Amino acid sequence: MSVHSLRGFRDLLPQDAARFAAIEAAAREVFALYGYQELRVPTIELKELFVKSTGETTDIVEKEMYAFTDGGGREVAVRPEGTPGVVRAYIEQNLSQSGHNAKFYYIGNMFRAERPQAGRFREFEQIGAEYIGNASPFADAESITMLVRLLEKAGLPGCSVELNSLGCAECRRNYRQTLLDFLRGKTDRLCEPCRGRIERNPLRALDCKLDGPWLAGEAPKLTLCPDCAAHFTRTQELLKIAGVPHNVNPGLVRGLDYYTRTVFEVRSSALGSQDAVCGGGRYDDLVKSMGGPAAPAIGWAMGVDRLAMLLKDKPAPNLAPAVFVVAATEAAQDQSFRLLAALRAAGIAADSSNFTLSLKSQMRSADKSGAAFALLIGEDELKAGTVAIKPLKEKGEQTAVPFAEAPARLKSFLKPAI
Ligand code: HAM
Repeated sequence: MSVHSLRGFRDLLPQDAARFAAIEAAAREVFALYGYQELRVPTIELKELFVKSTGETTDIVEKEMYAFTDGGGREVAVRPEGTPGVVRAYIEQNLSQSGHNAKFYYIGNMFRAERPQAGRFREFEQIGAEYIGNASPFADAESITMLVRLLEKAGLPGCSVELNSLGCAECRRNYRQTLLDFLRGKTDRLCEPCRGRIERNPLRALDCKLDGPWLAGEAPKLTLCPDCAAHFTRTQELLKIAGVPHNVNPGLVRGLDYYTRTVFEVRSSALGSQDAVCGGGRYDDLVKSMGGPAAPAIGWAMGVDRLAMLLKDKPAPNLAPAVFVVAATEAAQDQSFRLLAALRAAGIAADSSNFTLSLKSQMRSADKSGAAFALLIGEDELKAGTVAIKPLKEKGEQTAVPFAEAPARLKSFLKPAI
């Protein structure tokens, strides 16, 4: 058997995993500031949940779901996105009754059987946020502002948000037909995928990489009803107050069916063709259409894999131990093992290799580890009850300290490195 991972699935080695963890930590801090609480929902749900919420005619549901029949004969799917599970939990767990704001965040892996390419994986991580039960533009502005603050906190300053309004179901009903009539007359100019999908979802042609640019100039525009227009104007005003740069992009339509009114994305040309770092929008009708109360909502999800790619030139997180313990003789092994425990108990990241190896080989490991100090115990130190501290990165004398004082002395040396 050859041992290899599946196409589109990958290992995150410690440096990558540390970058992901740093982004997640930044996200948790920002979510706490905005009153969002974590919600963990299952990875596998009934397939019908995604068909009904993400949308029957979306690429995600049509072509990209990992769906199968389980042992009990149920049609299930591995989640391609987080919003449907959150909405299901909101309804099933009666979260509208919980008495406070329904603001939830999630951090988890999603699965889509897309054609893998740079920035597009079949298993990828999303950090998402959903604000359910607030219809006002203040919720839109707050959600988008939080997204931008999170990107800044994670190390990506200066993001501009692409913004559009898709109007309500009423605004779109008339527009859909007008646009479809227009597109039917232009099929010879449309790319192959657009030709295939205009009958099912004509709006998707507007954000096609090939056809979007000419359609932006020539296709009929969506006219918002007075309520939707006022909502969109107010959202932009509030974003200005919050100091969030944005750019109204009438071509932004998003690829999921549940959106109403505000939609947005943050993109980066540094990512190539898969340029969306985050996407989201309002979904005012979804909760009700899934059998819940009338609960307008807004949310977004960011692709952690893509954000990590954008941050790859930032200094990598330091994974090196602070100190490395070396047993210089066989008799010193137990005392060295004791020292490791004492250092860790004092909150100092300490490592060792194999105490039974030669001094030379342990010192080689100490150098490779990236630790700032090696702590050696040999015959003399054993007799004197001391530990030798040897700087590894900078030139400096080896010093001896009493065994019991070693953790405290190291803490003062290492400040502020630990
Ligand atoms: P989405 O636009 O499908 O929206 O995905 C959000 C983000 O997930 C994308 O902007 C991208 O960064 C990342 N992403 C998507 N597919 C892949 C992939 N194959 N490989 C790597 N990254 C990927 C949603 O999922 C909605 N649930 C967002 C939302 C929440 N809307 C309202 N609430």
